[in-house]
Amino acid sequence: MAKRSALLIVPTLAALVAAPVALAAAPPAAPAAHTAAAQTATAPQAAPTAAPVASSGPPIVTPDPYSDGSVQAGAAKATMCFACHGPDGNSVSPVFPRLAGQSAVYIAEQLRLFRGGIRQNPMMTAMAAGLSDQDIDNLAVFFAAQTPSGLEADPTLWKAGQALYLSGDRKHDVPACVACHGPTGQGNPAAGYPALRAQQSAYVVTQLQSYANGTRYSGPHAETATPNSIMMFTIAKRLSPAQMQAVASYVQGLR
Ligand code: HEC
Ligand code: HEC
Repeated sequence: MAKRSALLIVPTLAALVAAPVALAAAPPAAPAAHTAAAQTATAPQAAPTAAPVASSGPPIVTPDPYSDGSVQAGAAKATMCFACHGPDGNSVSPVFPRLAGQSAVYIAEQLRLFRGGIRQNPMMTAMAAGLSDQDIDNLAVFFAAQTPSGLEADPTLWKAGQALYLSGDRKHDVPACVACHGPTGQGNPAAGYPALRAQQSAYVVTQLQSYANGTRYSGPHAETATPNSIMMFTIAKRLSPAQMQAVASYVQGLR
């Protein structure tokens, strides 16, 4: 797969159709159409000459790390990440996300967003600043190739979380998470939908909050910073704090 654009748009639409509650009714317009324009306008690696309002051309996409990255070169570089993200990306502290088994497309995309100042975090901004494009691809395929180790769900929360994850919440137009994040929380590696299995629940809650309050990304196109980010901004705004907590506990126990 040389290009990500076709891959991204097709699973996006398929997932939305498959979701029990369609997102089509949500503002703004259909995600795929939105995506093409937004990517052209905001992609950090866009050529300076790219027309800012072009909507006919293909979206500018993150180069595919699976074809460019080297697990071996990534392993050498990744030791500087282990202090926070844990050995092989299985972080032990709940504030540091797990990277083991995460989609390489997603990891590469997020590293470019940190490096470009679109996703802001003092620790990660500093870490990403020194990474070359090749480093990013190597690190992405290295962490994608690691095995996530098990974490447990909170027994008082996971049943409600499972119901939301598998069926959504029709009353509040929340689609089932399983449609995009998969039955075992493995995500959709090729499309770059992140894995959620064995993810630290405290981290999941803070990310759901940051989508809901609009701070996950910064800049004039914060909600369309990635080809598919608008979906999570829309969904997270419809979740209650209790639902965030419950579903975060459920995915922490997935493997
Ligand atoms: C000093 C601690 C620290 C170090 C070292 C560090 N990170 Fe991070 N990383 C974080 C924190 C904290 C976050 C969560 C940021 C947030 O909440 O937005 C994060 C988030 C990430 C994410 C986003 C994960 C997701 O699920 O969205 C990626 C990818 C990432 N780091 C990769 C790396 C890589 C690769 C390295 C090594 C080159 C590295 N990090 C080194 C602290 C660190
Ligand atoms: C229509 C597809 C879709 C559905 C349904 C969906 N997600 Fe997502 N989710 C995504 C995509 C795509 C991303 C990456 C967005 C970005 O680029 O910021 C994401 C990102 C996330 C993240 C951030 C992961 C990280 O490592 O930082 C969390 C947490 C999350 N979703 C939880 C959920 C939960 C909980 C549900 C169900 C209530 C859900 N998602 C439903 C597509 C979806």
